Formats: sequence, C-alpha cells, structure tokens
Amino acid sequence: KTIYILNGPNLNLLGKREPEIYGDITLENVAADCKKLGVELGLHVDLMQSNHEGQLIDWIHEARESAAGIIINPAAFTHTSVAILDALNTFEGPVLEVHITNVHKRESFRHHSYVSLRAEGVMAGFGVEGYQLALRRMATLVAD
Ligand code: DQA
Repeated sequence: KTIYILNGPNLNLLGKREPEIYGDITLENVAADCKKLGVELGLHVDLMQSNHEGQLIDWIHEARESAAGIIINPAAFTHTSVAILDALNTFEGPVLEVHITNVHKRESFRHHSYVSLRAEGVMAGFGVEGYQLALRRMATLVAD
C-alpha cells in the first residue's frame, strides 16, 4: 500500500527556515526516515512538498486512485484553506494531520485548522518525529 505524505508551503526550507522553531533536520532527511520506516511497516511512502495550494489539491485527487492513506502537513494552508479540506473530503482513506510545532502554543491564528475537520488524528509539537509517529498510526489504520 502507498501512503502520501504531503507538505505545504515553506517546508522545502525545513532545516534552514527558523531552525529555533522548526529544528535543523531537512525535509530530505524526513523523507529518507519515513521511507525507511515504511519498508519496516510494509508501506510504500511518497513524500511530496509544494508551495502551491493547487498542486497539493491535485496530489490529493491523485491519491484517490493511488494511495491508501494521506498524511498531510498543510503548513500555513492549515489555517486558511477550505479548498484543501474539500479535496480531502473527496478522499476515502484515512487522513492524519502533522505539525512539527505545537500550534496551540503559538499565535492564536494557528489554533484553528480546517484540515482537522477531516483528519482522524493530529500530531502537533513532536518535531519531525511526528511524521514517523503518524506513519505508525497510518499502518494500523490501513491494515486489513
Ligand atoms: C506548521 C505550523 C503552521 O502554523 C505553519 O504555518 C507552518 C508549519 C508546523 O509544522 O508546525 O508552516 O504546519
């Protein structure tokens, strides 16, 4: 089974962007770690990142045909995008939401998530480990 791990805007700069907030591990490292864990869990992991809302929506549509589950860190689109929520609502498999930081400890505009209306679960504030924790949970959710 294939799991999509989708990442929104500015996460291409992970490891370089505000490292005091987001840490110094790059998205390439996260992708490698998740792929490795995927092999252990018997899952094929595809990690993608885009700064463009429409591209993320296109990948969610693609997932309808080619993925069993979606793990998504929509980044700032979390707090703004009804369109990403609507796209996720067209997907029938499980959805898990990841935030590297504890969004509830930050500015109040980060406290609301449109995506949480669809997500089975949310990891927030576990750093980049949150992706792997979400992947472990996803293995349970997509198991037969
Ligand atoms: C984030 C939190 C968002 O509020 C922020 O806009 C991001 C990253 C996180 O992973 O902690 O870009 O999703």
